[in-house]
Amino acid sequence: MCGIVGYIGRKNTKEILLEGLKELEYRGYDSAGIAVLQNDTFESYKAVGKLVNLEEKTKDFITQDFAVGIGHTRWATHGKPTELNAHPHMGESSYVVHNGIIENYATLKKELMAEGIHFLSQTDTEVIVHLFEKNLRSAKNTLEAFSQTISQLHGAYAILLVTKGEDETIFFAKHGSPMLVGIDAQNDKYFASSDTPLIGHCSDVNYFDDGDYGYISADEIVIFDKMGQKKNPHFTKLTQNKLSAQKNGFRFFMEKEIYEQSDVIIDTLLGRLSDKEIVFDELDASLFEGINEIKLCACGTSYHSALTATYLFERYAKIKTSVEVASEFRYRSPIMSRDTLFVVISQSGETADTLETLKMAKAAGLKTLVICNVDNSSMVRLADACILTRAGVEKGVASTKAFATQVMVFWMLSMYVAKLKNSLDALEIAKQIALMRQVPGSVKVSDAMHERIKRLSKRYLHGHGFFFIGRDIFYPLALEGALKLKEISYLHAEGYPSGEMKHGPIALADPELFTIALLPQHLLYDKAKSNVEELSARDATICTISALEFDKADDFIPINSYEDYMLEFFEMMVALQLLSLEISVRLGNDVDMPRNLAKSVTVE
Ligand code: AGP
Repeated sequence: MCGIVGYIGRKNTKEILLEGLKELEYRGYDSAGIAVLQNDTFESYKAVGKLVNLEEKTKDFITQDFAVGIGHTRWATHGKPTELNAHPHMGESSYVVHNGIIENYATLKKELMAEGIHFLSQTDTEVIVHLFEKNLRSAKNTLEAFSQTISQLHGAYAILLVTKGEDETIFFAKHGSPMLVGIDAQNDKYFASSDTPLIGHCSDVNYFDDGDYGYISADEIVIFDKMGQKKNPHFTKLTQNKLSAQKNGFRFFMEKEIYEQSDVIIDTLLGRLSDKEIVFDELDASLFEGINEIKLCACGTSYHSALTATYLFERYAKIKTSVEVASEFRYRSPIMSRDTLFVVISQSGETADTLETLKMAKAAGLKTLVICNVDNSSMVRLADACILTRAGVEKGVASTKAFATQVMVFWMLSMYVAKLKNSLDALEIAKQIALMRQVPGSVKVSDAMHERIKRLSKRYLHGHGFFFIGRDIFYPLALEGALKLKEISYLHAEGYPSGEMKHGPIALADPELFTIALLPQHLLYDKAKSNVEELSARDATICTISALEFDKADDFIPINSYEDYMLEFFEMMVALQLLSLEISVRLGNDVDMPRNLAKSVTVE
């Protein structure tokens, strides 16, 4: 999704902007641009496609001495990914970059055009710069023009604006899209839409709150809150760990992240398992007081992990649990009662739809909990309580290790609540904890499995579609397997409950229909096997993933034999991730940055 960087200082402005954009590259984008203001003169460059194109265009552009600059990676929402639609957008004497969506842009654009203002792009963003310049003609000063502009915008935004006549200053506004500013030892200022571009430059950062706006110059940081009251910045320390930014010899970040799962799950478990109970120091047991129900809300992969939680919470914690896709929940006037704990799950903590449901729950007075991978993200800052998944930076757009750690947290949380509610006896809880300790082993990628999947993948590059099928908690895993394949192979895939196939989809069965069947030995094995037999009888091509070989399958990905279905779950998860990866590699796709996708979806 779109990314923003900004810089005020004496270092090489162009390089700082381009480096910053590189750090945001993994989020997904289709064009990029920068604008630098020096000695009251602008230089601006834009390019469609990857950042190398922008680097090539700017290779003769040298920035020395003091300058202010803004940069942007764009993920198209309004208008195609063209150079004209790329940010920064210019007026007569100003440039703007923006993340989010200006919902009333069409009305504003119409009004501005009626006044003779000419638009170059199809974007919603361009209205900001023209509106600002219009306001500037009558305002007392630049800040007044900027704040008037912000007050006329509806929707979500993070905005940076630079203008001639204020060549030491960047104007900013944040509402619903993330933005922070950092300072370095020389008091240079860095803006970004997430903290990664600032790591290595800034020791301290200030995360803007919704409604914040103001300006920052070489010597001043001026912030107003949504009521227009001046406020002090609140700087906090920024982590300096950039290690995970490298691929460490793997072909792709996604591959590295699949292989990292064993280590990150160890981190997820660290300090949280005792022999008899789950310890979440970050939770106050009172969070569950008066709670009779859990409602989970999330998008994409995080939704799939939330769906696994419904099985675990009801089975073990004996608490009524439901899950919803955040974008649906938002607009269906849901009934929210105060005996419900509202839980949002998000790798990034910035997904617009999920964030909005959290705001809705808070407004309705519900207790809220976020399961998140990014500390200090918007959701972490907003929720009453937070459990961090500790997966480390995930760069592949297709989520892998984040999902693994989310499911791990849910399994732990189900035991935590089971203990609180006395719904499982101590022996059973101890048994489950002993199983949890085996998960790092079950997600270790073996050469044998990876090699087998590499070879097998060549048979699955065509056909008219894939069905990933599973029962119980293996149904959300099937959904996740299908999503992974869709995201990086661009092949059609559906996740389906095995038992539902006969109610319609079985009509599609023929040798060109590929079925990836999850057959856990320890959960409904015979029932799931019968469902696969029904497909096999209709000549569908079948690949089973199981500890037990099945003579009706065309292909077989063996997993180890375990004592419990949860361990089978985690090893099957790895097999599905590798299968998508290897199919995508054979198809020659961009595994880490698949077309049309963004890592963090900060627009609704
Ligand atoms: C996962 O592979 C996807 N790229 C996507 O579905 C993602 O899980 C979704 O956008 C939600 O993101 P979040 O976890 O950061 O909220």
